[in-house]
Amino acid sequence: MTPDDTTKPEDASAPLLELDDVAVHFGGVRAVDGVSLHLREGLIYGILGANGSGKSTLLGAVTRLNPLTRGHLRFDGRPYENVPAHRVAHLGVARTFQTVRLIDDRSVLDNVLLGLDTADRSKRKHARGRADEVMERVGITHLQRMRPSELSYGMQRRTEIARAIVGTPRLLLLDEPTAGMNTEERDEISDLLRSLQQEGYTQLLVEHDVQMMVTVCDYLFAMNFGKLIAQGLPDDVVADQGVRESYLGRQAADA
Ligand SMILES: Nc1ncnc2c1ncn2[C@@H]1O[C@H](COP(=O)(O)OP(=O)(O)O)[C@@H](O)[C@H]1O
Ligand SMILES: [Mg+2]
Repeated sequence: MTPDDTTKPEDASAPLLELDDVAVHFGGVRAVDGVSLHLREGLIYGILGANGSGKSTLLGAVTRLNPLTRGHLRFDGRPYENVPAHRVAHLGVARTFQTVRLIDDRSVLDNVLLGLDTADRSKRKHARGRADEVMERVGITHLQRMRPSELSYGMQRRTEIARAIVGTPRLLLLDEPTAGMNTEERDEISDLLRSLQQEGYTQLLVEHDVQMMVTVCDYLFAMNFGKLIAQGLPDDVVADQGVRESYLGRQAADA
């Protein structure tokens, strides 16, 4: 099945995101090597793959942080491979990173505000209201005056999600948002992501926890050595022989 099958027939709109033969090579390393995929608005997509399979680099390609070696990107039907990284947020794409990236000599509130373009005064006024809204939404309102380092790891992750959604992106890319969390914290983040979906946020999630991915995602991709090796409904992808051999088998062997 393809992502098209998951939308109703009357929805003939262009995919929100399209990648056509996207490659990102670092010297001789083919981190991403010819990936084509598309994402429909409103769904949660996941990427599975062993360490080094190119998942983070693919997210970097989508946000234009990693220069493309070849290929094409379209957002809402419009090509954007020539849009510089600092303008990608304006298109409506936001991401969180694999490692926590918060500025520690600023408050939680200030970190959230960094997700907004607050260059002029009128925007700044609106920004504060919007920041309050998203802090409430992700459950960090009571922590807004603190420094990031004073927060638990889970709350730091929530702060990053708040910073990513404060600009009301249409596509949210999340790189291992629950890495290092216990099961309870992980379940809470799963609930948060699903509730963000209810508000219309399309998401592309990288996570290693297969159970979480099957529970949270509507559709999964699997990567190995920079290439897509499977895609489809989560249960089908997890049962795929190639995926089991390249990833799940390795995970089992690691355990
Ligand atoms: N900036 C970079 N320079 C050189 N090699 C890189 C860079 N970023 C990633 N790589 C390499 O690209 C491959 C894919 O990495 P990455 O996208 O981080 O994988 P994943 O997120 O799936 O673990 C790895 O071999 C990694 O070492
Ligand atoms: Mg990664």
